[in-house]
Amino acid sequence: MDLDKIIEVAGLTVDFDGKTVLSDVSFNAYNGQVTVILGGSGSGKTTVLRQILGLNPIRQGKINVLGKDISTLDESEQTKLYMKMGVFYQNGGLISSLTVGENVALPLEQHTNLPKEIIEEIVKMKLSLVYLQDTYKMYPSQLSGGMFKRAALARAIVMDPQMLLCDEPGAGLDPVSLASLDQLILDLKKLMKMSIIIVTHEVSSILRIADRVIFLENTKAIFEGTLSDALKSKKEPLINFFNKGKGQ
Ligand SMILES: Nc1ncnc2c1ncn2[C@@H]1O[C@H](COP(=O)(O)OP(=O)(O)O)[C@@H](O)[C@H]1O
Ligand SMILES: [Mg+2]
Repeated sequence: MDLDKIIEVAGLTVDFDGKTVLSDVSFNAYNGQVTVILGGSGSGKTTVLRQILGLNPIRQGKINVLGKDISTLDESEQTKLYMKMGVFYQNGGLISSLTVGENVALPLEQHTNLPKEIIEEIVKMKLSLVYLQDTYKMYPSQLSGGMFKRAALARAIVMDPQMLLCDEPGAGLDPVSLASLDQLILDLKKLMKMSIIIVTHEVSSILRIADRVIFLENTKAIFEGTLSDALKSKKEPLINFFNKGKGQ
């Protein structure tokens, strides 16, 4: 077992209603790195994350997460594994009827028996990590777009996961808010040694944060490698993608 590989996807094929979304997709993600999953809309990026998270059954292929074949885990092993993974869903997924503090506290309330005061301390600490210490009692609707995303990030990391999975965390943000979200992601990698898998199509973000790039196109992973190799690739979809983003 190669401990450096935090995720190994091998020969993953996914069909929905007879339509192939992923065919024979293989790639690895490594400990301590930011791995970006790229591809056009509908190319299967969210599907890959859902498969890694065990939300869809695996019909063909294999996924190892932190050295464990996820299709062989029983329920308690699954729970244990997924507690090590934080998730940032596509729209942030905060519950509008709960305060920011209550939202961030949710995973701790669901998965631990910690007393209320300790949970409050942890939540406040995580909120200050994303520069939102003053929003504890606010509601999600009272936050700006960038603050909302950072609150969602605080919730994703509240359990101190070893790995963070983010689905288009920067979508809809202005360039300044996007850059500060990226900086937070880099902080998590550096300060908390988190391994991060992130779906994004913002070229400016990719250039700032990616160590490794996986490119999905026409159901296949057509590229897997370092950011600098991705930028040097002669494959047309990659050239087009990075050219298109130059004006960003
Ligand atoms: N649960 C599902 N049932 C049927 N089709 C799905 C399901 N999930 C995703 N798809 C289809 O799979 C394709 C890839 O979707 P998705 O992974 O969400 O793409 P991306 O995140 O790259 O935009 C799309 O054509 C989508 O309609
Ligand atoms: Mg998606």
